This record gives sequence, structure tokens and C-alpha cells, in this order.
Amino acid sequence: MDDLLFAKEAFIKKLEAVSSSAELEQLRVRYLGKKGILPEKLKQLPKLPPEERTSFGKAVNDLKALVTEAIALKNAALKDAELKRKLAAEGIDVTLPGRHVTPGRQHPVSRTLAEIIGIFTAMGFGVEEGPEVELDYYNFELLNIPKDHPARDMQDTFYVTDDVLLRTHTSPVQVRVMQQRRPPLRIVAPGKVYRCDADVSHTPMFHQIEGLMVDKDISFSHLKGTLEAFLHRCFTPETPVRFRPSFFSFTEPSAEVDIGCIFCAGKGCRVCKGSGWIEILGAGMVNPRVFEMVGYDPEVYSGFAFGMGIERIAMLKYSINDIRLFFENDLRFLRQF
Ligand code: PHE
Repeated sequence: MDDLLFAKEAFIKKLEAVSSSAELEQLRVRYLGKKGILPEKLKQLPKLPPEERTSFGKAVNDLKALVTEAIALKNAALKDAELKRKLAAEGIDVTLPGRHVTPGRQHPVSRTLAEIIGIFTAMGFGVEEGPEVELDYYNFELLNIPKDHPARDMQDTFYVTDDVLLRTHTSPVQVRVMQQRRPPLRIVAPGKVYRCDADVSHTPMFHQIEGLMVDKDISFSHLKGTLEAFLHRCFTPETPVRFRPSFFSFTEPSAEVDIGCIFCAGKGCRVCKGSGWIEILGAGMVNPRVFEMVGYDPEVYSGFAFGMGIERIAMLKYSINDIRLFFENDLRFLRQF
């Protein structure tokens, strides 16, 4: 009986010192395990005089119950402390300032291009693309600009070799599409073009969009109607549009198209150089020579084509006075769109 009392006191002291689940488990095994202190005590029962057995057995079992309950309580306390520690460590300080995410924006050139493509696709035009590194053959020859033609001087071409160049306009896509397909055709071809030129209104790379429509009985009035409808949607329905005679070797007749100056409303200012008009695109009826070269019968088919610079239109739409701003990637400029 004294031994039991001694074991009980020792247990209480040890339990107080326990600070982890592992230590608690060791203590449990030591007192309650198969060869633990209390089971061992019970094994002594048969050696006791019969009159002492009942009270001794009861005392051992009472101690066992006490030890079991104390361990369970300690276990719960340890788990609770562990959880509290974990929560404190993983706690989120909701008073810290947030991390600011700046969303990206569409580049004004991409945005203008998407808008232009949207207007033409709504009119039933499909979208085609061609290579930026192009053959002289497509960029010039098939567009009725032979090697010795003076029109080549108008274009400041970047040559890769004698026969390979960076396309100077999107017009080669016209002949590539015509070579691959039969009329009726109604396409636009957007993309990058390259010319060796640089000042406030020229960059060595810029964007154009080409248009081509070929079918039986296509006339200049289709060209006029299509471009007027386009320009009225791209700018405003009130924007004046005029066609001036011009020359492109791959169209005949050819025209340049102007819109009334949107800065001075036609009164005359620095941007339109006092004329009240701003040139916006080149166009014309596809030259029968080009049809012959791609194998279309010019007696059966006719068509119109046009080409325009995207940056130019973006500059007018957003009142930008220097084309180089588009390519300097200055965020202060880009964030305005
Ligand atoms: N390719 C011409 C240019 O870059 C524009 C154009 C396209 C003119 C189609 C007529 C027809 O100046």
C-alpha cells in the first residue's frame, strides 16, 4: 500500500514535468503498459494474504483509473497548446498593405487594328496573313513592279538578299491569296511592314492592313462605298471623305483617300498643312496585269484593293503627334489607353 502511494506521488511529479506528446506516451507506457508499474503491481495479488487482496486490488485499480484520466487530460491540454502554437505561427496579419496588381492594357496599335478588323469582318471580310520576310517576287514583281521600275524608288526597301526582303507593304498578301484561291474573294490582311525611314511620322517598322475584293462585276463604286462605310465607322459618320487620283502599279485606276482634318474640322491647321484634308489610305481597281499573273481572267473578274497604315489612323483617333511614341514602350504613354 505504501508502494502504491509512493508510485502515485511519483507519477504526479513526472506528469507535471511532461511537455510533449512523446514524453506523455513514455509515461503512459511506464505506468499502464504491459510491463508497466501498475500491471506489475496487480501480478503481486496472489502472493498477498487473502484478507488484503480485495483492498489492494481496489487501490491498484483506483490508481490505474486516476493515471488513465490524468494522461487523457494532459493529452488534451498538450494538443490544445500545439494547436494554439500552430495558429499563431500561421496567422495572417490582415493589417498589412495589399500587393498591388497592375492589369495589362492593349497597346494603342493593337487596339486600333482590332477595331479596324472588327469593322471589316462585320462587312463579311475574312482575315489573312502573309510572311514578313518576303520574296521580291511577291513584294514587287507580281504586283507589276519589275526590277527596273521607277516605283521601286518610292519604297525604301530592306533587302536580305537580292531576292529576299522585308515586305514594304501588305500588298504581297493579295497575290499570295489570289494564287491559292479562286474568286469570289473578300479579305483583309493586317501585319507588320518595313521601310528604311525614320522621323516624327515614320518608323522602320509599322503596321498596315490590306483589303481585297474580287468577283464578277466589281466596280469602283463598290470600292468607294466600302471605304466610305469603313471610314464613317472608324471615325465619325459625319467625317468628310474624298478620293483623289493617284498611281499604284498594281491598281488601275488608283486613288488616294483623304478624310476631312479632324483637328481643325477642315479649316486648315499644322497637321493638315493648311489643306483641311488628311491622306489616310491608298486604293484602286486591281490592275488586269496582276490578274493575268495570278491566272485570273481579267475579262471575267474585276476587283478592288486598298491599303492603310494603322499607326497613322491611331495617331488621328487618339491625337498622337509623334509615331515613335508607339514603340518607345514608355509606360506613362501606354497607360493612357
Ligand atoms: N501598298 C500600297 C502602299 O503601301 C497601298 C495600296 C494598297 C494601294 C492596295 C493600292 C491598293 O502604299
